[in-house]
Amino acid sequence: MKRKILVTTALPYANGPIHLGHLLEGVQTDIWVRFQKSTGNETYLFCADDTHGTPVMLAAKKENISPEELVGRIQKEHYRDLTGFHIQYDNYYTTNSQENRMFAEEIYLNLKQAGHISVREIEQTYCEFDKMFLPDRFIRGTCPKCKSPDQYGDGCEVCGSNYSPKDLIDSKCAICGNAPVLRNSKHLFFRLQNFSEKLLDWISDENHVQEGAKNKLIEWFNQGLQEWDISRDGPYFGFEIPGETGKYFYVWLDAPIGYMASSKNFFKDNANIFDSFWRTGEGEIVHFVGKDILYFHALFWPAMLMGSGYRTPSCVNVHGFLTVNGEKMSKSRGTFIKASTFLKYLDPEHFRFYLASKLGPGLDDLDLNFDEFVSRVNSDLIGNLINILSRTGTSILDKLDRRIGKISKEGQALVLEIIHSEADIRRWYEEKSYNKVIREISRLGDIVNRYVNDKAPWALIKTDMESTREVVGATLNCARVLAIYLGPVTPGLSAKIFRFLGVGENTSFLNLNEYLENTKINPYEILSKRVDEKAIENMIEESKETTKIPENTNAAGAKTEQTGLIGIGDLAKVELRVGQITEAQNVEGADKLLNVKVDLGEKGIKNVFAGIKSAYKPEELVGLRVVVVANLEPRKMKFGVSEAMLLASGSGETLSLFIPHRSANPGDLLK
Ligand code: MSP
Ligand code: ZN
Repeated sequence: MKRKILVTTALPYANGPIHLGHLLEGVQTDIWVRFQKSTGNETYLFCADDTHGTPVMLAAKKENISPEELVGRIQKEHYRDLTGFHIQYDNYYTTNSQENRMFAEEIYLNLKQAGHISVREIEQTYCEFDKMFLPDRFIRGTCPKCKSPDQYGDGCEVCGSNYSPKDLIDSKCAICGNAPVLRNSKHLFFRLQNFSEKLLDWISDENHVQEGAKNKLIEWFNQGLQEWDISRDGPYFGFEIPGETGKYFYVWLDAPIGYMASSKNFFKDNANIFDSFWRTGEGEIVHFVGKDILYFHALFWPAMLMGSGYRTPSCVNVHGFLTVNGEKMSKSRGTFIKASTFLKYLDPEHFRFYLASKLGPGLDDLDLNFDEFVSRVNSDLIGNLINILSRTGTSILDKLDRRIGKISKEGQALVLEIIHSEADIRRWYEEKSYNKVIREISRLGDIVNRYVNDKAPWALIKTDMESTREVVGATLNCARVLAIYLGPVTPGLSAKIFRFLGVGENTSFLNLNEYLENTKINPYEILSKRVDEKAIENMIEESKETTKIPENTNAAGAKTEQTGLIGIGDLAKVELRVGQITEAQNVEGADKLLNVKVDLGEKGIKNVFAGIKSAYKPEELVGLRVVVVANLEPRKMKFGVSEAMLLASGSGETLSLFIPHRSANPGDLLK
């Protein structure tokens, strides 16, 4: 029977670019959705950008644009990047929509009416200078446990302890640097504990969450469910809470409701189908999320739905995190790879193939190891599957006038052997054991390649054209089946293979048992290229934050963005020299930059755009000796090319250039 399935991926935050971690989720989900569609199930994939919250509001302010304008731009970029990896959405919407406001209000008012909302005053950190309450991430200070300086308000990255912002020592507002105060404010809470019993029932059904996720959830249950603060004080970019003034829904309240809003927007002319998913429960709802947001999806979200008259999800599928070369993605190591950077250098279908070859149904992290990436793609995809086509589909077929005939008995037997795996492959796709799918496809590819080796059509053709035609026909039929199997993983490649074979591009699992016979095969075109290892190096190089300093960021700002340790070898790469400023001037249209020329002695005079205007006047700079990164790749900025970088600390009025000792000479190397 045909199933009806509504699938979602978590909504990416509108305050940063899509990176390979997001794509693990997107690809895992898209493979599942394409598989469901390929077997004839009525399936929809919905997503949206998660737009609300303080970070987006402040980012917009910094750019001097409205938050609406910012999220509009980011949504386009996100959609471009995600679809660049062939993730096929039925709708990619935004949480800042009318539909979302409507559902958020409705769900909230239903919860309130049913007695699931409580109200009380809480003490919060407030910046009198910025006139706003500060989210934990916008408070910096010294960790109360290990005394490491410059830690976030909610937890220390050095010792890993969590605490309340109130306990932070010497706390400062991350926006303006002033010490915040404590202030009382009325907040609204969702009484999650009202749903303890129902939720426990819900998570006990093994269809709803995987075993590993359930164990984590039970731990939380044992600690006792707490009520959840769902309101924030203005200024806040979000939806105002009905019946309150100056109170907004916390971003995580309306984010999952964004799944409904995206569906509603897509089904706008068909209320029945929307209801069949969200109210009556005839259709399935399947969410794909990372393990970091399990709490929201398996506790808050089902409880919100239970308390407001909607049905609960059929399944929350949780995945682990992507690491790169064995470590957390890192900006300084160049392994925090943006989707758009990857696409400049490598083939997105190779990434999909590699991920699939390693993805299982559990919560384990998945490591992207570039050596393994190269070998998996080059040997299992190109060297095995593509090889089947390239060795029979080129010159041999030319000599056969590119025609294949009726499939032989022997050919049929071989194709049947390949088709025999259908049930396993379907089951593995369904349970998200894509690693097993790929292993099986590779095993089948080996069988076909062995058949070609045994038959040696390149030799056979010299004596027996018609037998050769049968061998090639059998081989291409097998390739067709393998392309169907692989379709959910590498849809672009499969479509190319179908085009080459002259079968419809929509060939799917439903066409598995058809034969390719008595037909002319199209000219061979390159189907997929081997991975270029140099491209990987270049991609990593480009991803290193140090080589990509955004405009208007001063040297000190860029430095704080780096995390992790560097070896002495890395340090040696940085050429620090004494420079003497010979000219300095304002830059028309730039409010933070000054344009200076620095004399580096034997290294010549370099042109620099430096973000130091907040603290220096051009006239006081001329003649000053400063410390310069002399071997920085020239960067094209909006106002011209910057060829070096000045070192400085602090920001705003307290920004201060590094000044070498008075006996230093222009061009001297710092050691
Ligand atoms: N906006 C929230 C989700 C709201 S859903 C109603 C959010 N956004 S996110 O951009 O931070 O993350 C989006 C998804 O990407 C999450 O499921 C998250 O787990 C996943 N990933 C982010 N980094 C990841 C990796 N490094 N690896 C795998 N998935 C990761 O959370
Ligand atoms: Zn402040």
